[in-house]
Amino acid sequence: MSDLHQMTKTTPKDFIAATLGGLFAPGLTIFMIVMLFLGFQKNMGQPDPTPIAEKVVLERIQPFGQSLAVDPNVPKIELTGEQVYNEICAGCHASGALGSPKFKEKADWSKRIAQSYPTLLDHAIKGFNKMPARGGNPDLSDLEVARGVVYMTNAAGANFEAVLKKEVEPTTDELARGKTVYVDNCAYCHDTGVTGAQKLTDAKAWTPLIKEGKEYLYNAAINGSFGGPAKGGNLKLSDADTRLAVDYMVAQAKTAIAAADKASKQAAAK
Ligand code: HEC
Ligand code: HEC
Repeated sequence: MSDLHQMTKTTPKDFIAATLGGLFAPGLTIFMIVMLFLGFQKNMGQPDPTPIAEKVVLERIQPFGQSLAVDPNVPKIELTGEQVYNEICAGCHASGALGSPKFKEKADWSKRIAQSYPTLLDHAIKGFNKMPARGGNPDLSDLEVARGVVYMTNAAGANFEAVLKKEVEPTTDELARGKTVYVDNCAYCHDTGVTGAQKLTDAKAWTPLIKEGKEYLYNAAINGSFGGPAKGGNLKLSDADTRLAVDYMVAQAKTAIAAADKASKQAAAK
């Protein structure tokens, strides 16, 4: 029993040894880190040690990596019709999968082309039977979808121009969702006009903005504009929800503009 007790008893000698050891261990760690760092420095200035194979792989996976880590401060680069087709639409239309009209197959496209461009565009944006909305990629802008439609239809004999003649009006459900997103993320500034944000009731401020078109407004809301933070500062907000908030804002602003018009006409009639 007394033996046991002696084994755990700390003598002054043990104490000093433990203290020195305690000081030495971190010292050793720091020494090793310094050596590692010096080793790194020695490697600098030497040829890039990344093996070619690794570089090739990095280059190959780059487009994917980039789309995962979208920098909200960099304006989205709109894809051309050919890019939209190759990246999204070809998935089905190259082979005619799911009964889709096949690329360059005039017989598949002629009746569809006869439906007119606005109908085709509308179907491509909203979806049509087994054709998914925006080809299944919600991040495609209306203009990009339009370019994809034109690229495919013109390749099958049409002569369309990729314009957004008519903006697609949001549905009641979309407006309701947009309102929720707006209240949670945008009202703080756009209800009050704080920091120079255009109030939804400010007809004068919104008239020129609406003329710029929804694409412009979507882009400004998603990527930020002068003084307007990207996605209202909530970078977790999806692009789709941000667009719906803009839809809601535009609908409210149009109501304000209509009311202002009416008021000014009444004033003029007096
Ligand atoms: C997952 C498969 C799939 C993808 C991806 C896809 N489509 Fe389609 N698309 C279809 C199918 C299936 C149809 C035929 C639908 C029908 O007529 O019932 C179709 C039809 C169409 C039509 C004709 C609509 C009409 O009214 O006749 C257009 C235009 C179109 N797609 C455009 C596009 C564009 C643009 C893209 C790429 C952004 C795309 N599609 C991507 C499956 C797809
Ligand atoms: C912290 C304040 C703030 C919040 C939150 C905010 N905005 Fe803004 N927003 C601004 C300011 C300031 C401007 C005016 C920029 C300017 O002068 O053009 C603006 C402008 C805009 C514009 C017009 C673009 C332009 O060129 O002026 C749109 C569209 C917009 N905001 C959408 C949104 C949406 C959608 C949300 C919510 C998801 C949001 N904003 C949240 C401050 C804000």
